[in-house]
Amino acid sequence: MQTKIPDWLKNAVFYEIYPQSYYDSNRDGIGDIPGIIQKLGYIESLGVNAIWLNPCFESPFQDAGYDVSDYTKVAPRYGTNEDLIQLFLEAKQRGIRILLDLVPGHTSIDHPWFKQSQKAHPNPYSDWYVWNDSVWNATDADLPSVRGFAERNASYITNFFYIQPALNYGFAHPDPYQPWQQSVDAPGPKAVRQEIKNVMRFWLDKGASGFRVDMAASLVKRDPGHQETARFWTEIRAWLDESYPEAVLISEWGTPTEAIPAGFHIDMLLNYSNPGVISLFRKRGYGNHRDHYSWSFFDESGHGNIKQFVDEYQHYYNATKDLGYMAFITGNHDDHPRIADGRSENLMKLVYLFILSMPGTPIIYYGDEIGMHYTEGLPSKEGGYARTGVRTPMQWSTSENAGFSTADPSKLYLPVPNEIEGITVEQQETKQDSLFNTVRELIKLKQAYPALEADADFQIVYAEEGKLPFIFSRSKQNQSLLIAINPSNQEANCNIPKQSNWLNRKFIYGQDNAINEDGEKWLIKLKPVSGTVYQVV
Ligand code: GLC
Ligand code: CA
Repeated sequence: MQTKIPDWLKNAVFYEIYPQSYYDSNRDGIGDIPGIIQKLGYIESLGVNAIWLNPCFESPFQDAGYDVSDYTKVAPRYGTNEDLIQLFLEAKQRGIRILLDLVPGHTSIDHPWFKQSQKAHPNPYSDWYVWNDSVWNATDADLPSVRGFAERNASYITNFFYIQPALNYGFAHPDPYQPWQQSVDAPGPKAVRQEIKNVMRFWLDKGASGFRVDMAASLVKRDPGHQETARFWTEIRAWLDESYPEAVLISEWGTPTEAIPAGFHIDMLLNYSNPGVISLFRKRGYGNHRDHYSWSFFDESGHGNIKQFVDEYQHYYNATKDLGYMAFITGNHDDHPRIADGRSENLMKLVYLFILSMPGTPIIYYGDEIGMHYTEGLPSKEGGYARTGVRTPMQWSTSENAGFSTADPSKLYLPVPNEIEGITVEQQETKQDSLFNTVRELIKLKQAYPALEADADFQIVYAEEGKLPFIFSRSKQNQSLLIAINPSNQEANCNIPKQSNWLNRKFIYGQDNAINEDGEKWLIKLKPVSGTVYQVV
């Protein structure tokens, strides 16, 4: 398959906005689209040039909007369709693209399609969801179902919570003894596929630049290796290449070797499901996986092991580098705790040096640019459960409600954390070496050097089992950059065989004098918790 990758992705840095918590423009305590429009100047000043907006469509909000009841209508609490179109326009004027969140795998039980589908009397929507043939028959454990909810005598398969019935994309291998399992080209699945395409067209025609696709691998049931699900995305991609060649699809899949050949421009590396990525960021003793992980690489103890990451990454990279990009994320609305938890500001600067200089298209979760923290112990909000603590209001300033809203504090979507001193936009904008200003500087660097573009060549220079530092190079058009990272609170040294091109090196960022001659070798010497970037050609 010959696909096109839009040029704009080469310099793309994404910003994920959870709309309910970004900025409240009308004092109801909930963030909204006009609020995002008001903050576009800030977003532009950060340097990101694309936004992924979490679902902003009509919904009963039993899973924070991932339970859609109308795909083509903005939820009134966020504004109107006109507001969203205005956001597309004003963002575009600032060189920022907006990607919406597409939830193709399931709807809310409140969606009119489902309300029809659950009726006893057969109708055009009867086969739009996955129903078995009797409430008395259980489905298999890998196809969780809800029994006794519908008028019709059948149980429906859910994709996530019970309020999220799975849309019917068919079964890759229907069980002949279970005739309710339809094939992928049965009329129901065909109609669903067409309708999801219509939803995409609806928003693309209004100015959206693409979609982050929720649970993108989940569509076709009994689909080992996700081959039939992939076939659907390949068709969608071919249609986009033809009709919307600038539009981009980002998958929540976490297996780039499946998602990117399937047609996604970008697959996210998930800090909680890709083992190699977990070994970079998942802090031991934090969050709901408390004791499951060994030390992360980005830990000042220096106990992490970069090889765990490198082996996984190299495999993904080699298999996908000519087809699309991987996205490192700082976090997201599901990933908890936040990436700054348990990390010093200096260590966070190294995390950003890494994320913003590796290949692909990084995604920064709102608030991570100022090092916001997770709030422990919040009661679950809108199906958030443990995720609720990463969804608190953006911390704009130290004034009332952290500058998020002028509503009464009791009305806020979620409370502002108690300790926000120093972790606000207002305070960090004026502090030259703040995390915020470092992130800005690193984004500028990424966008200034062709060698840091998404598709620039990537080579490992030094990554040894349990040793530090980690060194890699990025190269493009006769430009080559060397990046070295030492997360530990001890100095880190290593020797590299001499390469003549390093003789005319130019210091770019971080710690100077990190490369020294040592007889026949180079000696790389990094201070505790530091990193460096050199141009070597
Ligand atoms: C994805 C979303 C998550 C949601 C789930 C069900 O994992 O990121 O927030 O709850 O899908 O749609
Ligand atoms: Ca509001």
